[in-house]
Amino acid sequence: MPGFSRRHLLQSGLALSAGSLLAQSAWARSSAAWLAADSAAADLALAPRERLLFDFGWKFQFGHGLDPARDLGFGNGQGDFAKTGQFDFSKASFDDSKWRTLNLPHDWAVELPFVHDEAQNSHGYKPLGRRYPETSVGWYRRSFDIPKSDLGRRITVDFDGVFRSVLVFVNGCFVGRNDNGYAPFSFDLSDFLSYGEKNAIVLRVDASFGDGWFYEGAGVYRHVWMTKTDSLHLGKLESTVRSTLTGSTASLALATAVRNEGAQTEQARVTWKIVDAAGNTVATAESATQKIAADGEAAFTASAKIANSSLWSLEEPNLYSAIVTVESEGKARDAERVTFGVRTVLFDADKGFFLNGKSVKIKGTCNHQDHAGVGAALPDRLQWYRLAVLKEMDSNAVRTSHNMPTPEWVDACDRMGMMMMCETRQMSSSPEGMAQLEAMVKRYRNSPSIILWSVGNEEWELQDKMAEQGAHVAATMVRRCHELDPTRVVSAAVNGSNEKGVSEAFDIIGFNYQQGFPDEFHKKNPKRPIFGSETASTVSTRGAYTTDKTRNLVSAYDVNVPSWAYTAEQWWQFYATREWLAGGFAWTGFDYRGEPTPYGWPSINSQFGIVDMCGFPKDNYFYYKAWWGKDPVLHLLPHWNFSGKEGEVLSVWAQSNLDEVELIVNGKSLGSQKVPHLGHVEWKVPYEPGFIEARGSKDGKVVLTDRRETTGEPASLRLTADRVEIDADGEDVAILKVEVLDKQGRPVPDADNKVAFKVEGDGVLIGVGNGDPNCQESDKEPRRSLFNGLAQAIVQSSRKGGEIHIEVTKDGWDGPELTPAKLTIKTRWVQCRPSVA
Ligand code: GAL
Repeated sequence: MPGFSRRHLLQSGLALSAGSLLAQSAWARSSAAWLAADSAAADLALAPRERLLFDFGWKFQFGHGLDPARDLGFGNGQGDFAKTGQFDFSKASFDDSKWRTLNLPHDWAVELPFVHDEAQNSHGYKPLGRRYPETSVGWYRRSFDIPKSDLGRRITVDFDGVFRSVLVFVNGCFVGRNDNGYAPFSFDLSDFLSYGEKNAIVLRVDASFGDGWFYEGAGVYRHVWMTKTDSLHLGKLESTVRSTLTGSTASLALATAVRNEGAQTEQARVTWKIVDAAGNTVATAESATQKIAADGEAAFTASAKIANSSLWSLEEPNLYSAIVTVESEGKARDAERVTFGVRTVLFDADKGFFLNGKSVKIKGTCNHQDHAGVGAALPDRLQWYRLAVLKEMDSNAVRTSHNMPTPEWVDACDRMGMMMMCETRQMSSSPEGMAQLEAMVKRYRNSPSIILWSVGNEEWELQDKMAEQGAHVAATMVRRCHELDPTRVVSAAVNGSNEKGVSEAFDIIGFNYQQGFPDEFHKKNPKRPIFGSETASTVSTRGAYTTDKTRNLVSAYDVNVPSWAYTAEQWWQFYATREWLAGGFAWTGFDYRGEPTPYGWPSINSQFGIVDMCGFPKDNYFYYKAWWGKDPVLHLLPHWNFSGKEGEVLSVWAQSNLDEVELIVNGKSLGSQKVPHLGHVEWKVPYEPGFIEARGSKDGKVVLTDRRETTGEPASLRLTADRVEIDADGEDVAILKVEVLDKQGRPVPDADNKVAFKVEGDGVLIGVGNGDPNCQESDKEPRRSLFNGLAQAIVQSSRKGGEIHIEVTKDGWDGPELTPAKLTIKTRWVQCRPSVA
């Protein structure tokens, strides 16, 4: 069927069955297939509701944090907010023809140059903040049509997250503000719109203040939507599906709220249709009819049962959907899809963690949200890619430190079978803190991947000096989590003894680092379940095998840690060997911008990652894969290109879960070694060019080999992609890897050649990277140096089906000639997500 693709199907009546067929076939593949898997999510809005993507065709220009003359005159006098309707810059007639055109999601911070300003160290050395008024305020503007026929509907604009303080104006009117960088927010625009005419929306986004101590981006870096509903509609994020399991029968408690924003009293009733992964209706339910007065709201509940339910698990993340419809006098007035899974989760103080009654160690990583090339503004597919890299390592959980994630990240966890610890940004029971927490819990409480809520991270004052207040703040937050979601436990990431303050309120106890505490705590508090909320912080540079302080490089052997941290072996041996510990979350899965550790400038990102900023594995990746997964693993390090170091004794390591590993150096055996449980094997080898080879055996038989050869000089380029066919929806991306090969076609592991990209056809280059923590080249220019043999480029489709032609060549005059490489990515026609005209 030509042009037949997931999104096409998802828009059609076949949506559920097709979406799930694709998903089901993916479960059956090897875990590596996740890297190439489809990332579609089912649509949440169902007719007569419309949910339109509001990402395309925005205008952008910088404002100014201090000077009104350079800030669209905003704040010129003190009268800006005196009368409604006088913000001319947000009227349809305003001329924005000189503004830059762009699509969302957009992060302007990643486009800015780096500045050597130590005050900006933790945020990635970008010129943001009150001392950089020229680059800290951005204006976004978009004209849009609203048909006459929409009159009487409720129309909201929904932001998934904006960094950071935003003022929203529509047709000259100020409609609202939001003051944090992570929680979603919405405004009802219905009263301000011109029906049957052009309208305009303007956002003033001010990134002068931050929410965290890590790179946070700047701008409208998550999706924006427009939702149109009947005046009688389901409440926002009010629909819940809670399951309890008896044998294989799932009993569902169904609940929602309905609002009547019309002028008449309405008789309303809610129906639920539960559909399985194949699209079959497996249960139905309906509520009693209730009268809802104009401007009133009512809660509706019902129950249903799924016989022989298919459980959500790590191996088979089965999902169900509830189609929730509100009707009045037999007519459907509003409807939405709620995706949920049936599974049980238990934290036990003696035995650790259980999923569906089966003991499972949490093998998790903490992650910030930014990626090479795009900063905080990730296309959906890239979130899927990042999770796939972690899943491929046999990690089974992620912690969204230290803020609530995007809906796409949670959706990908649900569909891939990845558990989550979902964390709010601000630990506070202030109205703002509670609003952030409520937004997170309400938004994600139906997601089976989430196994616990975290109300914060390392709140020094509330843990210690303000312990009394801390206990109150945490208790208020925990109570609210339980009210909104009685099915999950609540905790936080505590760096300390967990003996007082916030910890008193938690259902389960999370320790950050400090491996001296858990044993003692467990003895004193035998009834409190414990997990490692944050561990590791091992530092390593991908592909570097000597620590070189003059070049800000830290060797990739599992030996380097800051004073508070642990190597991969140290923390995992601790957690893996105590049954009562539920497992833990390593800091971090991916390197991230900001917090450059262990070195400062010119390092611009952290080196804590198990993979680098691009997702290229460092050697520790294979330690985790060996001890977290079931597949046999054998990984040899370092590479064997050490020209000039002849005769020098080098450490050769093998990461493996096999019984024994033998090392061969240039044909000579250096003997076999038994692999210690949860450890690695190591030899000291005087360097001479040639090769090293590891032979790993199980039950006396060699089952895997791994080899490193001294390569020749760089001769040609190689370009590969995670997928060579992507959707022509203006959103999908292909993630390209660039390597340098020698004459024999072997990747040169220490190549640092500069390359240039030419991208033509039905797509564009949206970012480049190389995983070098010290690289200050632009993320947006079509050129990049390789770092230890690798670079990454991300290309995005246009909305026209066809082909994207990418060529990578040597950049500039210096260095050896390199045979260029070419790659064609097909972009297949799809029905794009409905979007705002
Ligand atoms: C932790 C903190 C993280 C990160 C990490 C670096 O204490 O929670 O956000 O800063 O240290 O090791």
